[in-house]
Amino acid sequence: MTPTLRIRSVENDADLRCVAALADIIWREHYAGLIDDAQIEYMLERGYAPARLAADVERQGVHYWLASLNRAAVGFAAAGPDESDPGFWLHKLYVHRDVRRQGAARGLLRQAESLGRTRGARNIQLRVNRGNRLAIAVYEKLGFKKNRCHVKDIGNGFVMDDYLLSKTLNDADD
Ligand SMILES: CC(C)(COP(=O)(O)OP(=O)(O)OC[C@H]1O[C@@H](n2cnc3c(N)ncnc32)[C@H](O)[C@@H]1OP(=O)(O)O)[C@@H](O)C(=O)NCCC(=O)NCCS
Repeated sequence: MTPTLRIRSVENDADLRCVAALADIIWREHYAGLIDDAQIEYMLERGYAPARLAADVERQGVHYWLASLNRAAVGFAAAGPDESDPGFWLHKLYVHRDVRRQGAARGLLRQAESLGRTRGARNIQLRVNRGNRLAIAVYEKLGFKKNRCHVKDIGNGFVMDDYLLSKTLNDADD
């Protein structure tokens, strides 16, 4: 049977708990060896605690989507304004290892880009860890271009050592 991919907007706290549960799994698997274990736990708490997710949606205007394959949630994305930089940002894009390369990230990104256009953005930006070669390859395949490096102090002695990438949003792509 051909798997059915579905992308939908996050609608309630249960959906946000689903996002956090997926992040717990995907982050610990994917970032092990790339980021310190202590930093992974710190960033999970900082980015996915219930209060943080609720504040993203209710106060910051960040939109979340869930991807499901055959009705099981397998990935998520978040996009919207950033608290420290202007513009429209893809904040999160994560797909469970077991279901990669089946178009979930492409589908999630399509939704984020569509929202960006609706909000009048000319481009969509993101930050990606400089050692995250898998994600960088995928983003380049999806049309993003590397701009520059960006190191940010995130507290507790941790830094994020990222590339900034961006992609122009053309009307015709919708
Ligand atoms: C990056 C990630 C979200 C991609 O998700 P995915 O669902 O496998 O991606 P898709 O299947 O939609 O693929 C999108 C495109 O990237 C390409 N791609 C996917 N995996 C790739 C890989 N390992 N190497 C090169 N290209 C790849 C696909 O071929 C596809 O292009 P195509 O449609 O022209 O064939 C997923 O690998 C992931 O969650 N990684 C770990 C978490 C992470 O690093 N997230 C980004 C944080 S900034």
